[in-house]
Amino acid sequence: MTIAKTRPVSDYPPGGDAFRHRHLIGIAQLTPWEISYVLDAAEQWVDLNRAGAAKHDDALAGLTIINAFFENSTRTLLSFEIAGKRLGADVVNMHAAQSSVKKGETLIDTAMTLNAMRADALVIRHQSSGAVQLIADKVDCPVLNAGDGRHEHPTQALLDALTIRRRKGKVEGLTIAICGDVLHSRVARSNILALTLLGNEVRVVAPPTLTPPAIERMHVTTFTDMNEGIRDADVVMMLRLQNERMDGAYLPSAREYHALYGLTPKRLEKAKPDAIVMHPGPMNRGVEIDSSVADDPVRSTITEQVEMGVAVRMACLDILTRRKRKIPGWA
Ligand code: NCD
Repeated sequence: MTIAKTRPVSDYPPGGDAFRHRHLIGIAQLTPWEISYVLDAAEQWVDLNRAGAAKHDDALAGLTIINAFFENSTRTLLSFEIAGKRLGADVVNMHAAQSSVKKGETLIDTAMTLNAMRADALVIRHQSSGAVQLIADKVDCPVLNAGDGRHEHPTQALLDALTIRRRKGKVEGLTIAICGDVLHSRVARSNILALTLLGNEVRVVAPPTLTPPAIERMHVTTFTDMNEGIRDADVVMMLRLQNERMDGAYLPSAREYHALYGLTPKRLEKAKPDAIVMHPGPMNRGVEIDSSVADDPVRSTITEQVEMGVAVRMACLDILTRRKRKIPGWA
């Protein structure tokens, strides 16, 4: 299937048939068609964001979005907050440290409380895989998954796909190496789902201890040798070593990890000469990626990923609240 750079709106089924979901829980529920619909919707916000106005649209005026983050976040929380505000919504942030969760409230009670507040959309990050779906099942408004445990982080995969599409002119038929701590990474899972679905060759490059069992079932090729894994790749996507998710010794040392799996300028020479380097952040500089690679103005897309994050989240908030806003064809 060909995903053109931007499809004309007339290419999509009309109204709500273009994106049939009430929630955005994972990439696993989406079709290639729906992914490209979100990416095309995001493109318009990229241009407007670059134009610099603080608020672009009153589309979401009068709506309240609650960002309920049960796990720490800097860029994802900020990105959702900015996205909501640029569309004119009232945005409220709830941090777990300040919530009753710390006092032992169950997830269902939290969901019922959030529901009673009559939010128009909930953006949830939670440390447990499946928690966001559980809350979505209990509330009346659209729920967007901002990362649940090791499961999924769909807006990250969408912003990564948009970044690749803009840099490479397409997001199909590319060789993409996802490298590092794949075992603990919801970013890797969502990206593998999205990028294989769109028709790319996806490689997973990781030490055996950080390679999820049976990952080949996700239609990827696995490598334990980094030099082999990134050979002739169009895209090298690095992942953070998720030390907070490691309850034992997965690695001898950060130093040895860097020697075998760190992305250095020398190692990057194995990839295609025009290969781009991605990282979802936050980075461990000098561990999975050298600063000279991360800050390379030509190859690194790291700040562009952050920029695309705002546009993609604007698109997702807009699309998922259309039913509520009774947009013709979506009600
Ligand atoms: C990622 C996450 O939280 O899953 N970060 C992010 O959303 N930008 C990746 C990570 O924490 O390493």
